[in-house]
Amino acid sequence: ATITIQPELAKPISDLLFGVFFEDINYAADGGLYAELIQNRDFEYALSDKEGRDQQWTHTHSWQLRGTQSTFTVDTTAPLHGNNRHYAVLDTKEPGAILSNTGFDGISVSKGEKYQFSLFSKGKGKLQVRLVGQDNAVLAQTTLSLNTPDWRQYKATLTAGSTTANAHLELLPLTKGGLDLDLISLFPAKTFRNRPNGLRPDLAQTIADIHPRFIRFPGGCVAHGDGLGNMYRWKNTLGPLETRKPQRNLWGYHQSAGLGYFEYFQYCEDIGAEPLPVVPAGVPCQNSGVGGGGQQGGIPMTEMDDYVQEVLDLVEYANGNVSTTWGKKRAAAGHPAPFHLKYIGIGNEDLITDVFEERFTMIYKAMQAKHPEITVIGTVGPFYEGTDYEEGWALAEKLKVPMVDEHYYETSGWFINNQDFYDKYDRSRSKVYLGEYAAHLPGAKVNLETALSEAIYLTGVERNGDIVSMTSYAPLLAKEGHTQWNPDLIYFNNTDIKLTTGYQVQKLFGNNAGNEYLPNTISLSTNKKTLNKRIAVSVVRDSKTKDVIIKLVNISPFSIPSTIDLGALNIAGKTGVMTTLQGDPSSRDAKPVSTNITVASTFNTGLPAYSFSIIRIKTM
Ligand code: AHR
Repeated sequence: ATITIQPELAKPISDLLFGVFFEDINYAADGGLYAELIQNRDFEYALSDKEGRDQQWTHTHSWQLRGTQSTFTVDTTAPLHGNNRHYAVLDTKEPGAILSNTGFDGISVSKGEKYQFSLFSKGKGKLQVRLVGQDNAVLAQTTLSLNTPDWRQYKATLTAGSTTANAHLELLPLTKGGLDLDLISLFPAKTFRNRPNGLRPDLAQTIADIHPRFIRFPGGCVAHGDGLGNMYRWKNTLGPLETRKPQRNLWGYHQSAGLGYFEYFQYCEDIGAEPLPVVPAGVPCQNSGVGGGGQQGGIPMTEMDDYVQEVLDLVEYANGNVSTTWGKKRAAAGHPAPFHLKYIGIGNEDLITDVFEERFTMIYKAMQAKHPEITVIGTVGPFYEGTDYEEGWALAEKLKVPMVDEHYYETSGWFINNQDFYDKYDRSRSKVYLGEYAAHLPGAKVNLETALSEAIYLTGVERNGDIVSMTSYAPLLAKEGHTQWNPDLIYFNNTDIKLTTGYQVQKLFGNNAGNEYLPNTISLSTNKKTLNKRIAVSVVRDSKTKDVIIKLVNISPFSIPSTIDLGALNIAGKTGVMTTLQGDPSSRDAKPVSTNITVASTFNTGLPAYSFSIIRIKTM
């Protein structure tokens, strides 16, 4: 093949093309990215959290009392906070019983590492706290002297004496009498960037390694919930942990809100990604209405003014100075400087009903009037039959919404065949945020073939980076054994992270983005029909570094010798770096390999069978 680059035709493209979408699905937050090690730390798990009403799923979930001389009950009479009504009552006739928590599939601890234990308590007594491993080996222990007529927090540091993936926490009353306990928490002392109430460092770093330009959060379906009472209300997720409002996660588990809006903003800032919060458009999923049941509904109009204000307050929380009501709350959380919010999503895959349109329009217009500096992203969702894709676009055009969020989960064949999806998009319409996409094979399988089909599609996105402003694969995280959705980008358990080939593609695009597209032509020296749409090229330039980045995808069994003609580009030096992801199309663990190559204004290279290659060249 001969690939000819035409730098004279360069056009500006979005510099935010590759980001990530974090949703609390598949235990991505509690038991995942959020570093808390105690499950149901606040006794707020409830039968109603769980699909099918699993009888195990009660306020005592993950807790167990062993021994006969104590009782363990959950009470609500005098709670720590009204948003956190349940607490444990441990009544001891004779010391000897043990209250234990098994964490999220066990508690993983490492020898020599420190863990921050804390709890709220009311009452008087001595309580031994210990981390226990296999065969009842005590890995760390301390004793707290509790003595307070009202709720008070106690803290202790535990240092693990050995490493195990499957420890549990034990609380042993050493004195007779009653103790009320709540918010029993254990965090690794080392969190990502050492943030208090922080994130699991390895997972947070794995996401940061993609070099995402933005993070969309908290959903997805989690953002708008499956009924009015299940909407993700950002204000419920702020402040001291005991004051946050936990709730049922619509993916069939419990959401502690420990990872809340402050933590999301902080993480974005820590990894240099633009925050992209998505708030409900005043309607729940598919306008599901109060209690679901097919009845369509939204927030009552009598409450919409307050709801609109709630959305406006989010901008003040992120950006307002410390003398504003919400800016003050951000400062109180430890961040007086603004978070520089620029984008906000309103709605997620909603049906475009009158109920939706009325509410979306109210929020959108209020946002335009009060915060014209914020880019609002509307929703058009997926274009499958039965969805309101066209209606979503029509509304966006009517209101001149600057950007809309499209979603599609398709087969790898679809991604290959539709790599020109945006070539014919009307440039006068709203810009596109491809907020959710993933390729799969039958049985939701992913491998190098699906990853290469995503790579091919993303070359088309770069080519259309003047109209497509952002993209994010979905879902991002999935905990092994707790996966409601497949495929996902990153699988993990308590100790290991398993990267998919799709992750490698995202990381390669994220680390090799540009802000100018250099048009190019490709001519194949063979007329093999099977190559049709299976070879793709995209060339971008980063105007800051002047690096030219050539992406080459070959999703065929043939190795294609190629000549690259750099046209009028002036190269700086004779060496470039070529990074190649290749392997058997069924491979699930192919990894990119980089080598230095010799480059010239025209040079030869090859596109190996089933490969994604990136050539990075310095220019003057
Ligand atoms: O990414 C999983 C789900 O897919 C999202 O929550 C929703 O927006 C979409 O239907």
